[in-house]
Amino acid sequence: MPTLTIGSRTARLPIVQGGMAVRISLSPLAGAVAKAGGVGIIAGSGLTPDELAAEVRAAREIAPDGVVGVNIMVAVRIFKDLVHAATDAGVDVLVAGAGFSRDMFSWCREAGVECVPIVGSARVARLSEKFGASAVVVEGCDAGGHLGTDRHVDDLLPEILEAVDIPVIAAGGIANGADIKRMLDAGAAGVQMGSRFVATQECSASDAFKRMHVEATDQDIVLTKSPVGLPGRAIVNPLTERLAVGDYPRIERCKSCLKECGKEYCIMDALERSQRGDVTAGLVFAGTSAAKIHDIPTVQVLMDRLVAEWRAASGEES
Ligand SMILES: Cc1cc2nc3c(=O)[nH]c(=O)nc-3n(C[C@H](O)[C@H](O)[C@H](O)COP(=O)(O)O)c2cc1C
Repeated sequence: MPTLTIGSRTARLPIVQGGMAVRISLSPLAGAVAKAGGVGIIAGSGLTPDELAAEVRAAREIAPDGVVGVNIMVAVRIFKDLVHAATDAGVDVLVAGAGFSRDMFSWCREAGVECVPIVGSARVARLSEKFGASAVVVEGCDAGGHLGTDRHVDDLLPEILEAVDIPVIAAGGIANGADIKRMLDAGAAGVQMGSRFVATQECSASDAFKRMHVEATDQDIVLTKSPVGLPGRAIVNPLTERLAVGDYPRIERCKSCLKECGKEYCIMDALERSQRGDVTAGLVFAGTSAAKIHDIPTVQVLMDRLVAEWRAASGEES
């Protein structure tokens, strides 16, 4: 497999483990992915700055020579504090989604950190390159979590590649080595995968959350409403069924965690619940790729398998 270079950092494998809030991708997962040769990403949204800094240091201990990043939603009120906590703790890469910030490029430049926005259009990709992005993630509508576009990544990728000269990392619906080959053949420098890494031993999601990923079929993966103001992709459960008919759970205590919030219900509470194991009242974000997941291996076993599948799809002996 080719390597993936993001600015001054190079990962041995072109596989980025997508940041997953709240507390789904923490140091055990990100550290294991970085150690196995990919880019390991800690999700910062929903953590305090001190918690995020501690996670970055813990991941670095697991993978001293690996590429470790953080993912922070621009929509989070303490976005700036979280970015500074991560850069001060020595992170390699900042991935930023759910909004756009001009400031983050200068914060990253000053700290020597590679800035990688998540984009859903050629216009935002071009803008990102102009402000100094080291790469962009183009995320299509098959992805788990909040969605910035209703188009598929295969459809979006060619126009993003046309628009920028920096590396383009493809995300959304990618679960195996054949999917990776399709994206690399189409011109992506790498892939970002979220759901596939949920179902690993090192992921910090509850067992119930992981099991839902393993058991989900195509029919179970739906679009749902989020107070962030973007649709989200999740596995159907009693909560998504309530949200579909506008029956919103009462907000127990608002922590004003988002810069702007529709306040229909509390997204942080819904995500924290599922992470802890309440997959009835909590929200279980997942991409359509979850329908292709059937086991919960260790990260190393998964990475070896992805390389072997990519080789087989490329017609090479494994
Ligand atoms: C449980 C879950 C939580 C996620 N949380 C975030 C997040 O906090 N920030 C973000 O930018 N993307 C988030 N994502 C998106 C992933 O980083 C990744 O881009 C996406 O999962 C790719 O699609 P896939 O699941 O089909 O691989 C989340 C995805 C999942 C499944």
